[in-house]
Amino acid sequence: MNAESRPRLNRLPEWNALAKHREALGEVRLRELFDAEPGRGSAYTLRVGDLHIDYSKHLVTDETLRLLRDLAAARDVFGLRDAMFRGEKINITEDRAVLHTALRAPRDASVEVDGANVVPAVHTVLEKMAGFADRVRSGGWTGHTGRRIRNVVNIGIGGSDLGPAMAYEVLRSYTDRSLTFRFVSNVDGADLHEALQDLDAEETLFIVASKTFTTIETVTNATSARTWLLERLGAGQEAVAKHFVALSTNAGKVSEFGIDTENMFAFWDWVGGRYSYDSAIGLSLMIAIGPDRFREMLEGFHLVDEHFRTAPPEENAPLLLGLLGIWYNNFHDAQSHAVLPYSHYLSKFTAYLQQLDMESNGKYVARDGRPVEWQTGPVVWGTPGTNGQHAYYQLIHQGTKLIPADFIGFARPVDGLSAELEAQHDLLMANFFAQTQALAFGKTPEEVRAEGVAEELVPHRTFLGNHPTTTILAESLTPSVLGQLVALYEHKVFVQGAVWDIDSFDQWGVELGKVLAKRVEPALTEGADVPGLDASTKALVATYRELRGR
Ligand code: F6P
Repeated sequence: MNAESRPRLNRLPEWNALAKHREALGEVRLRELFDAEPGRGSAYTLRVGDLHIDYSKHLVTDETLRLLRDLAAARDVFGLRDAMFRGEKINITEDRAVLHTALRAPRDASVEVDGANVVPAVHTVLEKMAGFADRVRSGGWTGHTGRRIRNVVNIGIGGSDLGPAMAYEVLRSYTDRSLTFRFVSNVDGADLHEALQDLDAEETLFIVASKTFTTIETVTNATSARTWLLERLGAGQEAVAKHFVALSTNAGKVSEFGIDTENMFAFWDWVGGRYSYDSAIGLSLMIAIGPDRFREMLEGFHLVDEHFRTAPPEENAPLLLGLLGIWYNNFHDAQSHAVLPYSHYLSKFTAYLQQLDMESNGKYVARDGRPVEWQTGPVVWGTPGTNGQHAYYQLIHQGTKLIPADFIGFARPVDGLSAELEAQHDLLMANFFAQTQALAFGKTPEEVRAEGVAEELVPHRTFLGNHPTTTILAESLTPSVLGQLVALYEHKVFVQGAVWDIDSFDQWGVELGKVLAKRVEPALTEGADVPGLDASTKALVATYRELRGR
């Protein structure tokens, strides 16, 4: 059935059944659900690879889950999933296949795009990356003056920055500490300025990461970095080859910039930017952690890909997490979704997920070209949990908004902590468990009174609870576990996009801003009369020029 003839989501009987069920369920209480089913904790837990996923603290019954799965079946989510894995062009607005899963497919797998198996090319690039990473790590790759590389600066933005920057932080304890890594993304010159402050040009390698190699922020920063390098080395263009490599799909633009395509690591148009850090875009990460650890990460991704591809609906974790999100987004009017890691190393994880989720599912037009009549992607936000506890958790506990949240934690701290710091891990995790308990079950007025609280303070100190959370617990934060987590969220986002009937793989909304910025720039620099500027922007630009002394 093509997109035009598919019934609209909100006309489906399965959608209406969920709406009715929501009404009938009313204000279901988690306390009651747990009282009625003492084994709910383990009954509502899935195990995928190393991930224990507890979804018992959700405002759902078996009936809710069944109805949600019915909706997924009616939208043929698994049909679209299979088409994605087969390499069909499910990114309809760009007429592209969506094959990030091929980036972590084993060498003997076969995935065809336009009749050609893409897996051999994936492994050829991985080998080229590994060879290069090993040379940098061993000191075999030297700069223009013969000194070994000690600093690696990744220049990219969006998916060409967030992925490697996030994963570098997550796997920090696995990195070669004798190397320094910096990630520059912002076109604000301060970003590059600060990143280069203490670096020695002779020992610095720039990795220019850009799928298109036309992104203005990246090309501008890369150009400034080249100037910095050549000035400091007192060298000409010939020095670039030893200090610049490119990660891109656009060989023409790479060589136009002056980077030898020998030093380019390729990927393909079927890899979306926000799904790309397990491609060549992960080169900085591979240099940091080494090729073997990078491969372990890819295996973790693949494990969850296989789970998503083969697990039945009842046990399929990405399907389940996607559907739970739909339950709150579409049937409880939840506007946002918090991701709260209890790991310092995951400090950039939520920022990474923001692009993955919000750039994928921030769409108001359905695949049939008509506006949707239902809510699509939520606002995704969050920071490491303990810090959040002393900032915004108050609103989650006692505010007026329903905010479903994912709690992510690990049984073991990373290796290498002192005994004293190692012991702190239990305190961290005590917070982790206490928070989801408090959010779910709250504190009744009776319990507050029993603590001897003055009557007038009882309402203030009562917690209604009933705040839904998913708990994801793993033994430790390994490269494989990172791959598993990212793939879990990638496929969750896929499920939601499939149900909402939107193209999760384009990002036209971002394009408009890019075009307008280029158009407005001459107004700032030259005072040019740019046609089409609205009165507000015109006045602001005039003030800007005045303040800038122009
Ligand atoms: O933000 C829009 C976007 O196109 C992202 O999807 C992408 O990750 C980012 O820009 C960077 O693009 P490129 O890798 O082509 O420089």
